[in-house]
Amino acid sequence: MSPWPNPAQTVSLNYLPMRIFAVVPAAFVAFATLSVALTAAELPTWAFPVAPPNPPRAPAAPGTPPPARSPAAPVDETPKHVPNASVSLTNQQLKAHGPAVPDWHPEEHPAMPAIVNQGREPAVWACAFCHLPTGAGRPENASIAGLPVAYIKQQVLAFKNGDRPGAEPKRGPQNNMILIGKAATEDEAEAAAEYFAALKPQTFMKVVEAEMVPKTFVAGSILAKAPGGGMEPIGNRIIEVPVELDRFELRDSRTPYEVYVPVGSLKRGSELVATGGGKTQQCTICHGPALKGLGDVPRLAGRSPSYLMRQLYDVQNGTRTGASTALMKIVVANLTNDDMLALSAYISSLEP
Ligand code: HEC
Ligand code: HEC
Repeated sequence: MSPWPNPAQTVSLNYLPMRIFAVVPAAFVAFATLSVALTAAELPTWAFPVAPPNPPRAPAAPGTPPPARSPAAPVDETPKHVPNASVSLTNQQLKAHGPAVPDWHPEEHPAMPAIVNQGREPAVWACAFCHLPTGAGRPENASIAGLPVAYIKQQVLAFKNGDRPGAEPKRGPQNNMILIGKAATEDEAEAAAEYFAALKPQTFMKVVEAEMVPKTFVAGSILAKAPGGGMEPIGNRIIEVPVELDRFELRDSRTPYEVYVPVGSLKRGSELVATGGGKTQQCTICHGPALKGLGDVPRLAGRSPSYLMRQLYDVQNGTRTGASTALMKIVVANLTNDDMLALSAYISSLEP
C-alpha cells in the first residue's frame, strides 16, 4: 500500500535505507553494533526559539459592553523593495495564501511547479513560501536546495508519519511542516523534490567566533537582534540573526545572516568532523568528503547552524526517527550538547 495520502497512487517508493547501506563501509557497521546508553541533554533553546505567549487579557467585569471595534486599518498598497531586485511587491503579495509566493529574484531559478509556488488549498502551503523559491530556506525551517530527490520525498513522508515531531512541540513552523507532510500527495512531493533537488545551494551567512553577541529576542520563530541594542556573553549558544529583520520578514531569499559561535568551536567542530574525536564516526564517510552529500545522504555544508543543531538534538532525543535515522542515532549517541554545537558551528561555516 502506498504510504502517501492519495490511495489512488500506488507507485512504490525507492526507499532510502538500502541505498544508504551501499555507501556505509564495514568499519561503520562494526561500530554500529556497540550499544550506547544515553540520556538526552537539556534542550538547547537557542536552536528551538519560541516566542513567549501573549499575556492573558483580564476578564471583563460582568455587564461591561464589548470594546468598540477599531475601524479597519487601510490596506497598505505601498510597493516594498529589497536590494538588487527588479521586482517590487505589496503586502498583499507577501502573504502566505496569495496566488503565488513572494519571489524577489525570479531570474535565479527555473519556473516553479504549482505545488511549490501556489500550494494546494487548504492544507498544503506552497513549499517556497517557507523554503523560498531558491530553496535557501530560513533558520526556522531548512535549506532544501540540491538535496537528493529520494531524500526529500522520504522526509516529507517522515513528517507525515510522525517521525519528525521535533523536541519543541510549541514550534509552529515544524507543526506546519507536519500538516503539509500529512496532506501532500506523492505526485506533489515528487514535483517539489525534482524542483528543489535541481537548485544550487547557496549561503548568505557570515560565521564568526565571538565572546560577546548582540542581545536578542524571539521574532516569530527565529532569534533577532533586540531593538534596544546591547551586547551580552555568548555562553553555550550559537546566535544566528538576520542582519536586517525587515529584509528577513520580506522573505528575500538573499537575506544575509550574522552567525556568532563560541571561541574555539570552529576548530573543535572541524576535529570532530575529521576524526570523530574518539566519540563518533567521521561525518565524511556518509555525507561526502566536503559534507556536500553522497548518494541519498543529505548535504550538511553551509546549512543553518540552528537547523543542524535541531537535527542532531532531535535524533539524540528520539524526536527524529525513521529507518535511515538509525545510522545517525549511533553517530550522536556519545555527543554532548557542546560537541553538537561545535559540529553545527563548523559545518555551517563550510561552502555549501
Ligand atoms: C510553513 C512552512 C513550511 C512549508 C510551507 C513547507 N515546509 Fe518543509 N519544512 C518546514 C520546517 C519548519 C522544516 C524543518 C523542521 C525542523 O526544524 O526539523 C521543514 C523541513 C522540510 C524538509 C526536511 C529537510 C531535510 O534536510 O531533512 C523537507 C524535505 C521539506 N521541508 C519539504 C517541503 C516540501 C516539499 C514542501 C511543500 C510541499 C514544504 N516543505 C513546505 C516548514 C515548511
Ligand atoms: C553511517 C553514516 C553516517 C555518518 C557516519 C554520519 N551521518 Fe549524518 N546522516 C546519515 C543519514 C543516513 C542521514 C539521514 C537520516 C534520515 O533519513 O533521517 C543523516 C542525517 C544527518 C543530519 C540531518 C540532515 C538533514 O538534512 O536533516 C545531520 C545534521 C547529520 N546527519 C550530521 C552528521 C554529523 C555531524 C556527522 C559526523 C559527526 C554525521 N552526520 C555522520 C548518515 C550518517
